Amino acid sequence: MCGKPTFYITTPIYYPSDKLHIGHAYTTVAADTMSRYKKMRGYDTYFLTGSDEHGQKIQRKAAEAGVSPKAYVDEIIKNFKELWRVLQISNDDFIRTTDPAHEKFCQDFFQKIYDQGDIYKSEYSGWYCTSCETFFTELQVGEEHICPDCGKPAELMKEESYFFRMSKYADRWMQFIADNPDFIQPESRRNEMVNFVKQGLDDLCVSRTTFDWGIPVPFDSKHVIYVWFDALINYMSALKKQGEDVYEKFWPADVHLVGKDIIRFHTIIWPIMLMAADLPLPKKVLGHGWVLLGDGGKMSKSKGNVVDPLVLCRKYSSDAIRYFLMREMGYGTDCNYSEEMLALRINTDLANDYGNLLSRTTGMISKFQKDVVLAPGAGTDFDAELIALAKATPERFAALMDNMEWSNALAELWKLVNRANKYIDEAAPWALNKAGEKEKLATVLYNMVEVVRMVTIMVSPVMPSLPQRVWAQLGIADRPELATWDSLRWGAFPAGTQIDRGEPLFPRIDLDALDDMPLAEAEASAQTEAVAESACSCEPVEPECVYDDFAKVDIRVVQVLDCFKVPKADRLLQFKLEMAGQEFTVVSGIAQWYEPQQLIGKKLLWVANLAPRKIRGVESRGMLLSAAQGDCLAVVEAPENMPTGSRVC
Ligand code: MSP
Repeated sequence: MCGKPTFYITTPIYYPSDKLHIGHAYTTVAADTMSRYKKMRGYDTYFLTGSDEHGQKIQRKAAEAGVSPKAYVDEIIKNFKELWRVLQISNDDFIRTTDPAHEKFCQDFFQKIYDQGDIYKSEYSGWYCTSCETFFTELQVGEEHICPDCGKPAELMKEESYFFRMSKYADRWMQFIADNPDFIQPESRRNEMVNFVKQGLDDLCVSRTTFDWGIPVPFDSKHVIYVWFDALINYMSALKKQGEDVYEKFWPADVHLVGKDIIRFHTIIWPIMLMAADLPLPKKVLGHGWVLLGDGGKMSKSKGNVVDPLVLCRKYSSDAIRYFLMREMGYGTDCNYSEEMLALRINTDLANDYGNLLSRTTGMISKFQKDVVLAPGAGTDFDAELIALAKATPERFAALMDNMEWSNALAELWKLVNRANKYIDEAAPWALNKAGEKEKLATVLYNMVEVVRMVTIMVSPVMPSLPQRVWAQLGIADRPELATWDSLRWGAFPAGTQIDRGEPLFPRIDLDALDDMPLAEAEASAQTEAVAESACSCEPVEPECVYDDFAKVDIRVVQVLDCFKVPKADRLLQFKLEMAGQEFTVVSGIAQWYEPQQLIGKKLLWVANLAPRKIRGVESRGMLLSAAQGDCLAVVEAPENMPTGSRVC
């Protein structure tokens, strides 16, 4: 019997950086969108991201900070994980290249290629950019000896090194590209790479001796493996770590999603490494463009122009940031970012187009039909065109999504949103109401609801928090079968449903109130604002209690063994917890803030002596502790080094 089709997508593994910017967020949001979309289409998906933790750059930064490289990266990785959590990234694994399993796999890979004679010892003499961890020729760095990629000074390097015989594989690579014309996307990048290889491939220097923060060459401990050679292998070692069955199921990867600056590593070096090791090649590499600042400059920490995505998510919601990134960046092209562009996009697409469609729909059902969606009856002259477009949109949208043209897919979807808004103006439900045309009114309002439902399903991979807020307003929060891809059939919405009109989902942003402060200042002020916003009054909110009463609460460290969504309950997650060898079940209303896999393995704090309760038929023991302020919530994590069962005192 055939199982589900599989889909394996990866982002690059990021260099641990203490300052993440919105450009970093792009690749990961895009991969998450794609993974969620494929899941909704019935695929068994695997989505990998992680961190690239070796190399001279990290070693230098750690030395500057006065800590070991491992301690340095351990600290910084927390920033990534927090950003991915806030951006609702649903990765299945987070690989770190300092994982022993990765290191071992990488050494075996290196050894295999060495044993067959494709790695040899020689001397490297040339230029190296530590910031990009890339080798360059004299010609590339020019007279000024500047890195052609990042513009920083390159360093002259002369050291004994191992070399990988890339040159031997140039013809085989050319043939592979000719046989697999879709491997490098978009086409313009394929042409660039083909022209590069046509000029001849040099062998690649794959080891270093002048620093030691890397994976040792297995047969020569004086050398560490070149950080890119080590990093690229993550895509395979991560699956191997999960077991041979996971590897067999998901390799070769369906797509490596990367920025255009690292396309050469992924489309030339990585495939040739795999050819040499006699392993299957990934199916596709998509090189996306860069998020540039409104003035056309690339964001980088060294330029001091980075925009902190955490600050933006706090100000505008992570759904809005995700939508902006996916809509703004065209296929393979760059896009611009400014706070004004972001606010404009939110106002136009989300508040005006989509938000208005929803609020006009629920507003009129509430006013004209006492909150009930009635069955459609006699039609109007305007229905046919709207219904035809609604029926045709899923297929068009899917074709663009499958091709990873996210911006075009959203533009296609918004044609339906805008057609529905025009339909309301044409069909004028308020006039039908006044004229006592009850059946026609019911038809128009039903059609509006159906469009909202269909658009919300399709946009959900981009804005994962949106559906549950919309379903609550449309009165179908407990009908998950109406939120699936298969339910994109016109007329599936059940007549007789009682709606629950809510607040506008995307309040308009006052553009005049957006000051034209330089970004760095705006960011600083947003941070101050966020701190001020979250600063609670120090007045206690509960009456004073004596110590003996407080001491009755038994709070323990527990570890999450498993976590999943409670079926038909949007807000609930069910946990299997472990404490000192015993297992417990807890149900907690935090599904809005976490994907279950983000919590598996974490050590949390748990109130052990609360009387058990039945929630949705499940007996829930005790309670997990969270911190909450306004719309934000985060579980309280226990110190990693404390064993489960430790008591909070
Ligand atoms: N560590 C390497 C990747 C190794 S993968 C085997 C690396 N890391 S990075 O942190 O510098 O970049 C990670 C990703 O972020 C890359 O895909 C890069 O293109 C992307 N971006 C960094 N700045 C960007 C923008 N301003 N805009 C869009 N993406 C950009 O490279």
